[in-house]
Amino acid sequence: MPTSFIMNICCIGAGYVGGPTMAMIALKCADITVTVVDMNAARIAAWNSGQLPIFEPGLDDVVNQARGKNLFFSTDVAGQIKKADIIFVAVNTPTKTYGVGAGRAADLRFIESVARTIAEHAESGKIIVEKSTIPVKTADAIKTILASNTKGLKFAVLSNPEFLAEGTAVKDLLNPDRVLIGGERTPDGEKAMETLVSVYARWIPRDRIITTNLWSSELSKLVANAFLAQRISSINSISALCEATGADVDEVANAIGKDSRIGSKFLKSSVGFGGSCFQKDILNLTYLCESFGLPEVAKYWESVVGINDWQKSRFSARIVKELFNTVADKKIAILGFAFKKDTNDTRESAAINVVRHLLTEHAKVSVYDPKVPADEIKTDTLGKGVDNPRLTIAKDAYEACAGAHAIAIVTEWDEFKTLDYAKIYAAMPQPAFLFDGRNIVDLDALRKIGFKASGIGKPAEGR
Ligand code: UDX
Ligand code: UDX
Repeated sequence: MPTSFIMNICCIGAGYVGGPTMAMIALKCADITVTVVDMNAARIAAWNSGQLPIFEPGLDDVVNQARGKNLFFSTDVAGQIKKADIIFVAVNTPTKTYGVGAGRAADLRFIESVARTIAEHAESGKIIVEKSTIPVKTADAIKTILASNTKGLKFAVLSNPEFLAEGTAVKDLLNPDRVLIGGERTPDGEKAMETLVSVYARWIPRDRIITTNLWSSELSKLVANAFLAQRISSINSISALCEATGADVDEVANAIGKDSRIGSKFLKSSVGFGGSCFQKDILNLTYLCESFGLPEVAKYWESVVGINDWQKSRFSARIVKELFNTVADKKIAILGFAFKKDTNDTRESAAINVVRHLLTEHAKVSVYDPKVPADEIKTDTLGKGVDNPRLTIAKDAYEACAGAHAIAIVTEWDEFKTLDYAKIYAAMPQPAFLFDGRNIVDLDALRKIGFKASGIGKPAEGR
């Protein structure tokens, strides 16, 4: 490696966050060597191949420009820890499934094990940057582990939460609304923050880089996701009232969103939010509130997740109800399985609940998603290695819909807006139903073809 590089950055965790974020830093900072390490060798091999492990529009281009120059992917965790001046920690922090806080608290064992690995291999002081979303005060635990295991080396721990959204990660990284950096308000802490600020300042205006104390930064990530999810649950709760009254939820969202105090974003009613963050972070927030003796606050935020669960089950229950209260042995086409368009990520996708519900009702379910592999769909729905002949994966939307009694649009992929619905209708038994869980198709046009079509929070036919 050329010796002229002034700074070495290492990122532990080559996932949806670590991979794209480091690729952008490498692209924008030609004088910094960035190495992403992961204990998963297959994932690292994929990052080094022509087929990246995650689908993200524009990412191939960014990786191709920097990889091999100043962007590297490696399994040599210990070696890269030694070399690094700054270490980003971007490992996953799933919801705990056991013991105290099961189902709500964050499982921090990967964070702890990474802190111990850093302590074991570091030979000089470093800046450690938390990228993973974690409960408030986790930086303290990391500092304690580092302090008690290293031979007097000095570490600064910063919090630098990621706000990118999947599907638009490259755009979000290029032009973020803000970058948040939290650190200790001590001379060493301020110096470390300034070093990290100088990295981002190469392409992001200084006034969009905010520095705060550690706890504000850690908490802000949870709160940002809780507020975003809260808007979706709010509009989804109103979607049910729209269906009952004949109002149109998109018209309501448009009308209220024009109020600049409310704003128009994140008001799209849907079958329910998914993704790796919203539910996990809210549950985490509620657990924190309870731990700090604030059960009322916990209950308030918990209801955001409650409405989301209800919205998901309301959608599948409606399919069963409208198909004359039975879907047994009827084919149902599910269009889309990812938690949103333009990603192959299925974590917490509403599709998982919908498909499971329909299988429980003995429907024959045929799923099509443009980016999610068949194995992933089966594993998410049934469990690893489990098969169910009632669940099939189609190669395109037309195959999924052929012979189906109903179609359910679960992910808002653009290609579902322009399908030849007249052709699809002709290949379905009558009456043919369509349930648009994303409000992306023209219900009136479908009704003209003959579909019994319904959306989320949309007036029923003829209303
Ligand atoms: C991120 C964040 O880090 C998480 O806190 C946030 O809430 C969601 O987004 P993400 O990048 O999506 O996680 O996770 P994932 O795609 O699962 O990637 C994490 C990677 O870390 C995996 O490739 C895993 O193999 C790796 N890892 C995990 C390690 O290398 N070492 C460990 O000890 C644990
Ligand atoms: C989210 C945050 O937006 C991001 O800042 C944070 O870093 C990680 O979590 P992500 O989960 O990748 O990002 O996607 P996002 O666009 O927020 O969508 C989350 C879910 O909400 C998706 O299922 C999406 O379809 C749904 N959604 C979003 C709606 O149902 N309606 C909306 O108006 C917006």
